[in-house]
Amino acid sequence: MTLKHLVDARQLDPTIVTELCHRAEFYRGQGPLNELQGKKLGTWFHQRSTRTRWSFESAMLRLGGSVISEPNAEANSSTGKGESLEDSIHMIDDYVDCIVMRHPQWGSAEIAAAESDVPVINAGDGANQHPTQALVDAYTMLLEFGHIGTLHVAIVGDLANGRAPRSLCYLLSQYKVKLTLVSPPDWRMKDDVKEFMRSHHPQVEETTEFKDVVREADVIYMLRNQQEYKTEEGRSDEVPYVIDTGTLSLAKKDARIMHPLPHCKEIQLPRDVEKNDRRIAYERQAKNAPYIRMALLAHLLK
Ligand code: NCD
Repeated sequence: MTLKHLVDARQLDPTIVTELCHRAEFYRGQGPLNELQGKKLGTWFHQRSTRTRWSFESAMLRLGGSVISEPNAEANSSTGKGESLEDSIHMIDDYVDCIVMRHPQWGSAEIAAAESDVPVINAGDGANQHPTQALVDAYTMLLEFGHIGTLHVAIVGDLANGRAPRSLCYLLSQYKVKLTLVSPPDWRMKDDVKEFMRSHHPQVEETTEFKDVVREADVIYMLRNQQEYKTEEGRSDEVPYVIDTGTLSLAKKDARIMHPLPHCKEIQLPRDVEKNDRRIAYERQAKNAPYIRMALLAHLLK
């Protein structure tokens, strides 16, 4: 199967995930390449980003392509003058061969893909989806465990407002994993994702209890409090679940702690533990990102 755009993690079936992960492993061992020489990537970011934008730009440069980077599109591009999303896309698709976009509006990537003559990659559309983060996550699970199939994955924290966990749930629904969703009642995963998971995969559990899950899970995928999607009064940096040396001591010897990053108070580990305990996988996870994004860019552009 060939993707034209990537806007939704439901496009990522196990065949394409495996193909992209193999390609990513090939790229890991290479020096500079010229596969996408002459091609231009535009990164059009209306919301904050460190890893996603830099790793996409790094991926394009490693493949010999070039980049037009707009990290602050909300302030700098004509959006601020009132130009519609459709009109902006209709222009910038003439200037580049692929658009990676992050935008606060739920569904914006789908609108852009419908308008664009070049591939559009959704790097986050509000609190909806972040499919390339799910790709990074799946790739990391494959590298850490050698398979995804029978893992017990616990996703922990603000599931109601996070796009990374929504995309990860969609992607993992296509595997025979066991999924445990851990959150307080007001941070529960929304029904649309739960319905999709239930129609694909029978083993989904929801709980508010963290410690029991930490003892059992293979992957403990932590999430920050998504404050930017909350009202002023509802905003707080407090988190109900924390990985510290105490909770880490409960985890299985071969468990992995993952996180899309940036992490806030939900991770409270001394730096030497983060560096030396093999179970802490989130830095390796972030380092895997350019390779899988190279694979995606090559897939969409060649
Ligand atoms: C995520 C995002 O922006 O949704 N970050 C990322 O791309 N790695 C997760 C987050 O900000 O919580």
